[in-house]
Amino acid sequence: MNLFSIFKPLAFTMDPENVHDFSMKYFSKYPGISHLFPCAKVSEQLSITDSHTKWSSPVGLAAGFDKNAVAIEFFEKIGFGAVEVGTVTIEPQQGNERPRIWRYPENNSIRNAMGFPNAGSKVILENIKSSNHTCCLGINIGKNKNTSAADTPSEYAKLYEMFAPHGDYIVINISSPNTPGLRNLQTKEAFRDICIAIDEKRKMLSKPLYLKIAPDLNIEDIKDMVELSKEFSLSGIIATNTTIQHSYDKGGVSGAYIRNISRDIRKKVCELTKETKDISVIGVGGIDSFEDILEFWQQGGKMTQVYSSFIFHGPKLLVNIQNDMLRFLKENQLSSIQEYTDRF
Ligand SMILES: Cc1cc2nc3c(=O)[nH]c(=O)nc-3n(C[C@H](O)[C@H](O)[C@H](O)COP(=O)(O)O)c2cc1C
Repeated sequence: MNLFSIFKPLAFTMDPENVHDFSMKYFSKYPGISHLFPCAKVSEQLSITDSHTKWSSPVGLAAGFDKNAVAIEFFEKIGFGAVEVGTVTIEPQQGNERPRIWRYPENNSIRNAMGFPNAGSKVILENIKSSNHTCCLGINIGKNKNTSAADTPSEYAKLYEMFAPHGDYIVINISSPNTPGLRNLQTKEAFRDICIAIDEKRKMLSKPLYLKIAPDLNIEDIKDMVELSKEFSLSGIIATNTTIQHSYDKGGVSGAYIRNISRDIRKKVCELTKETKDISVIGVGGIDSFEDILEFWQQGGKMTQVYSSFIFHGPKLLVNIQNDMLRFLKENQLSSIQEYTDRF
């Protein structure tokens, strides 16, 4: 059964965010409707670990899809190896004016200018606590739009403190293009202040901590981010968020449009972290096939995430990638994906 193929033609005539909200309501209330979609099956051969977390498959759901952590179980059931919720901010916020998501089906890409609409930390924490998931859970944290520069580090620290006991990893998001000034936090000085503030909390409770970066950083900025990640013993870098290198209107673009841009940044980050085995790279941005994932493994990465390709292909995407992974293992006489990725 594939409800997606029936639903998609109609859904693509409607406003993307309305469709998203409608779908999330059902995924949240009835996680069992996963049976109406093709589901990728859990298989130990496909599970993967870095030094910090274990995912039941190398493909996770990227941040921004389940912003309020309402449908973790549904996404686990259809076969994501991990789910990253958020971005969560301390206070609830509305985000930017609608419309703020645009689809480009002709090149499987999406543009969004959402600006972290979310229910806020208190509500989202309760949602996580009442979820019955067993999958690896990432929690992506960001600052409120109106938080001053001076208060920003302590706000990230507070979010870390609140959410670290309830997730498997935390992500510092300073790379979304739709919160004014957020990306300026990707400088050495600003990011150092955030790391120092969170470090205080990590002394009490240490959870894997990742940094999510933009695909628009220059090489010097990337080096700075990697250097600080090493200095503060972060668990890894998630590369990448959406790009502002486009000539559409406002917002960040994702999907096939950013495949090469993200891939090149990931390659650079993998090279710069190669010698530090405890820093892993999670690959996201334009990934929509096993070939993309294989290329990332060969660069030295392990876990990946998708967002846009899931919108265009639906849950069948996960099944196709899983079938390709199993075929790859068989053809190469490998016992697991872990065995293969550990070579690089
Ligand atoms: C509509 C939309 C909303 C997003 N919201 C967030 C978010 O809140 N936090 C975040 O870190 N990334 C967010 N992202 C970025 C994705 O997590 C991902 O990094 C990006 O889309 C690139 O992956 P893709 O090409 O597979 O879509 C969002 C992306 C889209 C399309």
